[in-house]
Amino acid sequence: MKVAINTGGGDAPGLNAAIRAATLAALKRGWEVVGIKNGYGSLYTDDPFIKLDAQSVKGITLQGGTILGTANRGNPFEMPYQKEDGSWDTKDVSDHLVQTFEEHEVDALIAIGGDGSMNIASRLIRKGINIVGVPKTIDNDIYGCDISLGFDTAIDIATGAIDRITTTAESHQRLMVVEVMGRYAGWIALYAGIAASADVVLIPEIPFSYDSIEEKIREREANGQKYTMIVVAEGALEKDGELVTKGKAVGQEVQLGGIADRLADELSERTGKESRSVVLGHLQRGGSPSTYDRLISLRFGAAAIRCVQERDFNKLVVLQNNKLTRIPITSIEGKMKSVSLESDTVQTARDIGICLGD
Ligand code: F6P
Repeated sequence: MKVAINTGGGDAPGLNAAIRAATLAALKRGWEVVGIKNGYGSLYTDDPFIKLDAQSVKGITLQGGTILGTANRGNPFEMPYQKEDGSWDTKDVSDHLVQTFEEHEVDALIAIGGDGSMNIASRLIRKGINIVGVPKTIDNDIYGCDISLGFDTAIDIATGAIDRITTTAESHQRLMVVEVMGRYAGWIALYAGIAASADVVLIPEIPFSYDSIEEKIREREANGQKYTMIVVAEGALEKDGELVTKGKAVGQEVQLGGIADRLADELSERTGKESRSVVLGHLQRGGSPSTYDRLISLRFGAAAIRCVQERDFNKLVVLQNNKLTRIPITSIEGKMKSVSLESDTVQTARDIGICLGD
């Protein structure tokens, strides 16, 4: 058996642990393992694979990023290419991918990725590729999966950062807006915001109104709390606001970028208070994985190889109700996991007085 491993989309802490576990579990069965360099894009080059052996995965559990490299622009169904006139377009090169796998006698693919990668995997499955998926994204928005690798580390980093920013907010009696990642879902903002005792948490699932945040700031002032910590997911939406361009959140178009600045400016204007904004950005994705992420990634990686051994393809290994299980990759195509407004976590936020902007 020859297994190829791909890491697609944005990196996340724990990717290397998953690669290591899958590699060791495959080697233990006497199989051959290769890694795809820099995402599917490299399959169209002369040298797409890295041979993976015990030596190449030694000591990588604690390393951030992915030893294989990754690429956002690696969708084989929409591969970017430069036209003769210098402009860029995309083309479907998925048949070439199938051919490369045949030529290199790859029997199965472990696709480690987020919802975008699983959508690509669904289409490749229909082209006859044997795929097992491993859920990865710090955003934690993969459908059918309680937790994806990378999320735990990201909320840990975000919580620590918000804690630190809170002490300076309090000293300067400022409004502080911290923007965290979460394009379509508010998992990072909600979890880190609650854990770090934020006063306001804004997530894409609950469109916010400035009036409601202003009221919270005024209520705090009246109680002698001269600072306010606002945590906002990058994909948060203003209620009745202008909805434009990149990305979608709960069926709506969102404008990514600049939300923290916009909030800080508007709230300063309304309250007369000094404000600052901080965008945590890729800090949330880099560096060593948490203990939880190391473990879940190792478990996912090894479980993926057990799937391959049983020839149980078209499966995503997932954690549901604290149990490792498998769901068909094609069953989650085009779906995404939003924060449920009925969840106890949202209720907890409300119960402890966090303003959710509605
Ligand atoms: O999907 C994960 C994610 O971290 C999003 O939260 C964020 O919008 C995006 O990746 C940023 O990706 P890039 O590395 O392309 O800037």
